[in-house]
Amino acid sequence: MQRRDFITTSALAISAMPLYGITFQNKPKSLAIIGTGWWGMNILREAMAFGDCTVVGLCDVDRKALEAARDEVKKAKGDDARIYEDYRELISKEKPDLVIVASPDHWHALQAIEAIKSGAHVFMEKPICHTINEGIAIFNAARKYERVVQVDTHRRLSPHNISAMEFLRSGKVGKIHHVKTFVNYNQGPGTAPMAQEAPDHLNWDMYLGPAPKMDYNPGIHPKGFRNHLDLANGTIGDWGIHWFDQVLWWTEEKYPKKIYSTGSRYVKQDGTNAPDFQSASFEFESFTLDWEHRLFAVGQNEGHNLGCYFYGTEGTFHLGWIDGWTFYPRNRNESKIHVDPTLHQPDAQNIKEAWADFRQAIDKDVRPACDIENGMLATNVSLLGMASYKLGRSIIWDGDKNRIVGDEEANGLLKRDYRGEWEYPR
Ligand SMILES: NC(=O)c1ccc[n+]([C@@H]2O[C@H](COP(=O)([O-])OP(=O)(O)OC[C@H]3O[C@@H](n4cnc5c(N)ncnc54)[C@H](O)[C@@H]3O)[C@@H](O)[C@H]2O)c1
Repeated sequence: MQRRDFITTSALAISAMPLYGITFQNKPKSLAIIGTGWWGMNILREAMAFGDCTVVGLCDVDRKALEAARDEVKKAKGDDARIYEDYRELISKEKPDLVIVASPDHWHALQAIEAIKSGAHVFMEKPICHTINEGIAIFNAARKYERVVQVDTHRRLSPHNISAMEFLRSGKVGKIHHVKTFVNYNQGPGTAPMAQEAPDHLNWDMYLGPAPKMDYNPGIHPKGFRNHLDLANGTIGDWGIHWFDQVLWWTEEKYPKKIYSTGSRYVKQDGTNAPDFQSASFEFESFTLDWEHRLFAVGQNEGHNLGCYFYGTEGTFHLGWIDGWTFYPRNRNESKIHVDPTLHQPDAQNIKEAWADFRQAIDKDVRPACDIENGMLATNVSLLGMASYKLGRSIIWDGDKNRIVGDEEANGLLKRDYRGEWEYPR
């Protein structure tokens, strides 16, 4: 069976079976988390609901978030998890079997690799890294140490996304040579928060870690790192990767060959520096993938505000999130076809299925549905888009060699200098 068939079959099979109460043979016993913020706690809650591991350690650089997490774990499960500010100490002292990495993006590589090297299986957040060579290092570590690394691109386990792939592969949409991915919503200009001393409960230096030194302001933490380019990669890094992952799931191709991106900050005055408008074109062998995000001027008549449009010779297929999927046939006499999503609250996600798939992959010693390779390839699309945006010119990507062709300045963006004691992963 080809790898792609395996992923599809495994995802379909899992969605059809009871997710809890499965007897796992190689049972991991201990669980730890790095980054107990918004999404990290969403994952931890599902991991606890799964029910068979003791939560032994929690790590965050914000003591308030950490203590709230410790109290929640104690209440939900009775576990006396120990708390840590430094993930290296957590890993070396607790030696957890499973580690969740849900810190800001610029930390993912160092923390995931440390956990993998210690022998843990890792459930990690998207985008998997901040620069492309970090992602390659995580992938290499996962393979070298033979650990299961599941990326939280949980849409690969969402029932409506699975049926969308079946529909797209059925041929009913016809031949597809153009896919548009997009996220548009109104945010307004905002105002720039004043730089200030970090609060006592936050270790700001450890928050920044390998990133360049910058002043703290309350717009960055929590959640606001996304739109600071030293910490993340803006909307294309945050949201784009979800849709790029769906496109890579659909196609047989592994990476785009030519990339051009443009954009600007037309409206934002909120002290961030990521583009508030960005468009990017990714040329694959058999289709063109477009990306657009706009954080302003979204009218009521715009229709779907995020997702993917697969433009086929038989009609247009929209794959969305809370709006499920819809096929708009080319022939106006045919009715549109629509499927609603099945999502879990809070925050309309499918982490439950992604966690169960992670656990099953460990048990059966197989690759999970959102394997690190898929996460790396999808993250690379975002990061190549950002590289072209930063350079202001198109780039040609050799995805077999992981190099930008004939452009040493562009290749310089595949990595970056780390600050202070932190060493860029090799
Ligand atoms: N898969 C999804 O659908 C999805 C949805 C939302 C967020 N995310 C991802 O989850 C990650 C976290 O996002 P969030 O919205 O929860 O942000 P957040 O700010 O709420 O949480 C991040 C937490 O990490 C902590 N942190 C910072 N540096 C740390 C370090 N060195 N060690 C340990 N903890 C550290 C912060 O103090 C904070 O509590 C991001 O990578 C984001 O892209 C994924």
